[in-house]
Amino acid sequence: MRSELRSLGKKKYRLILVYLIAGLLFVSIIVGSSTWYGQRAQAKRKRNVIFMVSDGFGPASETYARTYFQATQALEHPYGYQLPLDKLLVGSSRTQSSSSLVTDSAAGATAFSCALKSYNGAVGVDPDQKPCGTVLEAAKARGMNTGLVVTSRITHATPAAFSAHVTGRDSESRIAEQQMGEYALGRQVDLLFGGGKCFFLPNETNDGCRLDGRDLWSQYQEEGWATLDTREGFDTLEPTGASLPLMGLFALDHMSYELDRDPKEQPALHEMTHKALEILGAESRQEETGFFLLIEGSRIDMAAHDNDPAAHVHDIAEYQRTVEVVKAFVDSHPETVMISVSDHETGGLTLGMQPGKEYPEYIWYPEVIQRVQNSSWAVGQALSRVDGGVKAKRAALIHSLLPESLGISDATDEEIAFLVDPEQGDIDIEFYLGRMVSRRANVGWTTHGHTGVDVNLYAYGMEAEALRGNHDNTDLGIFVSRFLGLDLPSITDKLNQIILYGWSHG
Ligand SMILES: *[C@@H]1O[C@H](CO)[C@@H](O)[C@H](O)[C@H]1NC(C)=O
Ligand SMILES: *[C@@H]1O[C@H](CO)[C@@H](O)[C@H](O)[C@H]1NC(C)=O
Repeated sequence: MRSELRSLGKKKYRLILVYLIAGLLFVSIIVGSSTWYGQRAQAKRKRNVIFMVSDGFGPASETYARTYFQATQALEHPYGYQLPLDKLLVGSSRTQSSSSLVTDSAAGATAFSCALKSYNGAVGVDPDQKPCGTVLEAAKARGMNTGLVVTSRITHATPAAFSAHVTGRDSESRIAEQQMGEYALGRQVDLLFGGGKCFFLPNETNDGCRLDGRDLWSQYQEEGWATLDTREGFDTLEPTGASLPLMGLFALDHMSYELDRDPKEQPALHEMTHKALEILGAESRQEETGFFLLIEGSRIDMAAHDNDPAAHVHDIAEYQRTVEVVKAFVDSHPETVMISVSDHETGGLTLGMQPGKEYPEYIWYPEVIQRVQNSSWAVGQALSRVDGGVKAKRAALIHSLLPESLGISDATDEEIAFLVDPEQGDIDIEFYLGRMVSRRANVGWTTHGHTGVDVNLYAYGMEAEALRGNHDNTDLGIFVSRFLGLDLPSITDKLNQIILYGWSHG
């Protein structure tokens, strides 16, 4: 009995030993393979960031666009309708720069791209005017594909701050060179869609606006860039066979306001975005890398500078269409995060405005804006082309431009007098026209410039929840950097090891 028990005890002991050894083996295999797996997953990790900037789009503009569409398209957009962005709201972003409580687009974009505060006018440089590595460059260093899709000149502040380093945003000739790869890091951008071809053309040609006689467009075409500058070329571009690097610039200057855009001449922002996502998506699928894509609704801001409510709302609507395209991409590519944020508010827009002493009527009139057919800028251009002096201009205004283009049939003598002879006033004609429409719609603006209010922050997709709350604009650069596992300081080091030629003049 006893020996039986003892031998049972021995057996048990041996059994436990066997289990222990087996268990240790098992655990070590699991730990080993998971480390191995982790490393592999890290190396092959394919993640995409789609960073959308709605330039100059404040919280009031979101309300404005939503209620405009509710009021003017009540059938499609009944009470309770939300814009695509409304559904992606996660928080807000603080916007001040290192030099001012009111940022400009260059410092605003540098906060996103380099994750640091810089001064107004800074493009990819820190407050000491030293170049700072951007998330686009750091993504490239990780083997990812990169792209810029905008409606401004591609050399304008926002896209420039991700892809160039100059001490002042006006150095657009230099920015164009850097975007082609003429700087310390070499070429970083794989795909560029937007306007601003003139900064790639020599100064002494009609279409060129460079400061020198270089023809970057032809030079880089010869060096292997795929180039496009027509609607037809855009339409026939097959996303699967597209070769990178690829540059499509569809206007010499900024692309048109959505309100003025001729679809036979220029693609819309959502179309450029769709094509860019197809191209970068296919490319990164093949190469098992992810991509970083910047998309900017650039001209929402410019319409607000003009205090032009109609051009503003139509560019916002086009941006919202673009958001839907991006959201659909995220839905089918779950390893992606999209962020949408503004660099700052522009115009100080308010809905409801009545000067005067009487108790105000609480109302604004979307239908006034619905009657507008052209941007104030386009009307100003048309007016400047009218020959025949004051009399001819007056006739053009009263009989066609104001009623047909702006839906205004009650212009006052004072307004007409200003418009036929704008020299007498101290504001630009497109500003004045924008204000004429705004006054009639009871829509107010406090400025032709930017304001310092917080802007809305929207995000969707992988880890989007991490952006909940109120953030500094620089936090968005930090988020992208962490999400993709980027090393911004090493890029900054590389940029500062090499003295950039032409640096002093930007
Ligand atoms: C054009 O650029 C060349 C240098 O490439 C310069 O010599 C010339 O003065 C420029 N012309 C104008 C009109 O700016
Ligand atoms: C206004 O838009 C219409 C329709 O797109 C266009 O035919 C017309 O030429 C434009 N007018 C101006 C002044 O730009």
